[in-house]
Amino acid sequence: MLTNSFKIIPKVRLLRGISSSAARCSDNLFVHRDTAEDNPSIPFEFTEENKKRVNAILNIYPEGHKRGAMIPLLDLAQRQHGWLPISAMHRVADILGLPNMRVYEVATFYTMFMRKPTGTYHVQVCTTTPCWLRGSDEIMTACKEKLGIGAGETTKDGKFTISEVECLGACVNAPMIAVNDDYYEDLTAKDTIEILSDLKQGKVPRPGPRNGRFASEPTGGLTSLTEEPKGPGFGMQTGF
Ligand code: FES
Repeated sequence: MLTNSFKIIPKVRLLRGISSSAARCSDNLFVHRDTAEDNPSIPFEFTEENKKRVNAILNIYPEGHKRGAMIPLLDLAQRQHGWLPISAMHRVADILGLPNMRVYEVATFYTMFMRKPTGTYHVQVCTTTPCWLRGSDEIMTACKEKLGIGAGETTKDGKFTISEVECLGACVNAPMIAVNDDYYEDLTAKDTIEILSDLKQGKVPRPGPRNGRFASEPTGGLTSLTEEPKGPGFGMQTGF
């Protein structure tokens, strides 16, 4: 009989296990919102000294290809102002004779452009896989605890901003942070706290590896190219 052969399968067994990684939000907003310190009515102009740099940059690019100067000009504007307001983007668009939208596309794509007020020291903590495997979580925690702010935030005195960033190209010296243009590498949480303490006191610690390495050589000493070079002609047939 049907009633005897009919089996009720527990509902739970019909469900497929579906999992997904947690959504992670960027600490930057990729659209512009007018604010008191960033809106198109605040004028921006390059300083006299930087105007000379603008001309020098433009001269690198041939006629018809001046738009290639966009990233150097945006970088110059950011260095002058400390971050990149929308009026600086408009000024760059004017200089290059481009619609504003062409500049927005670039400025919002590259995370090197800071589109909101940024601290004097921009502490960028790399958390991509090689740095993460080497302890970037502890480095990030040390930064947050030392400065009392989270990623994407700026200290009240305007001195420090922390950003969580993707690979900065120094994986062989992981974990690392960049502070403005300087890389601090082979870090421990203790090193990170020392670096931030020095910066707080107005000292600039020596950039580079903190574990005694000069650059990215093996920590255990050389493993290849350890003999004297053999000289020209080594290994060639005598007939040559
Ligand atoms: S993963 Fe951190 S520098 Fe490349």
